Amino acid sequence: MEKLKHLIKMEDMGKRDDIEALFELSKAIKENPEKFRNQFAGTGKRIATLFYEPSTRTRSGFHAAAHELGLGVIDETAESSSCLKGESLEDTIRTFEGYCDGIVLRHEDTKAGNRATAVASVPIISAGCGKGEHPPQALLEGFALNEKKGKIDGLGVAFEGDLKNSRTAHSLIKLLSLYKDITIHCSSVPGLELPKEYVKLMEERGTSFSQCSPQDIPRDVDAIYMTRVKQELLKNKKHDTQRYFMDQKRLDTFSKDTLLMHPLPRNAEIPSSVDKDPRAVYFKVARDGVPTKQAILMATLQDELSL
Ligand code: CP
Repeated sequence: MEKLKHLIKMEDMGKRDDIEALFELSKAIKENPEKFRNQFAGTGKRIATLFYEPSTRTRSGFHAAAHELGLGVIDETAESSSCLKGESLEDTIRTFEGYCDGIVLRHEDTKAGNRATAVASVPIISAGCGKGEHPPQALLEGFALNEKKGKIDGLGVAFEGDLKNSRTAHSLIKLLSLYKDITIHCSSVPGLELPKEYVKLMEERGTSFSQCSPQDIPRDVDAIYMTRVKQELLKNKKHDTQRYFMDQKRLDTFSKDTLLMHPLPRNAEIPSSVDKDPRAVYFKVARDGVPTKQAILMATLQDELSL
């Protein structure tokens, strides 16, 4: 795997082989955390997490990953930043690059990752910008699918909910479309359909794609990837989301091998009563995401990568 210059969109990961090398590294870290612990201890290397939007998993998960690796962490949020005094993202990046060796960035502007890389001399990892992409989440979801299903080639995955604004779904669809014989079913809330650029990419890469209603998702689909409707982006516009709901009764209509995934946070689309079903893997995937975040940091900050 080549050293990562930046990670703003899935294409920055390179080819399928590079993604698989990152999965291998994530697996090695997960199975033998002691071997990789404190890799950077004594190097003085630090990351900054610069989060202009709220986060539970990604920000804390990168903190946990950095601590495991012995990296220092500088943490900044919109509330603590001089952006409140009108400082631009570009000036903030130029300042932060003097304090750290890599920046994990979340921002409400879809172009924020590109704006940051245009001025940065340190690697930028996008942790979700605007309505675009969220590559770290897609990589840890891809790792989970590969681990739980044994392979990604040939999988059928249904995406449900707000596919217009879900940056995690966008990146995961890009990742899956690099594999062979993938079938994607999109069950979007009306008005919140997957943007055309992702449909075009699937066509170009030979990924089978269909738009369907929730009841038409095949019962033996390998995974259902639910997303929440990002009401904060929709202002007062109401969408009919009632059918986009996975309770136990509906989950029981699917195969015993169908995984129920969700990038989290969730709202009402999956009631907590479903969490005890072994097919509901979202909390486990979030927990297992730390080794993948470690692998991303290693791929970004380390010159030579070895398992
Ligand atoms: N999956 C994800 O990005 O979660 P957070 O918004 O909590 O970071």
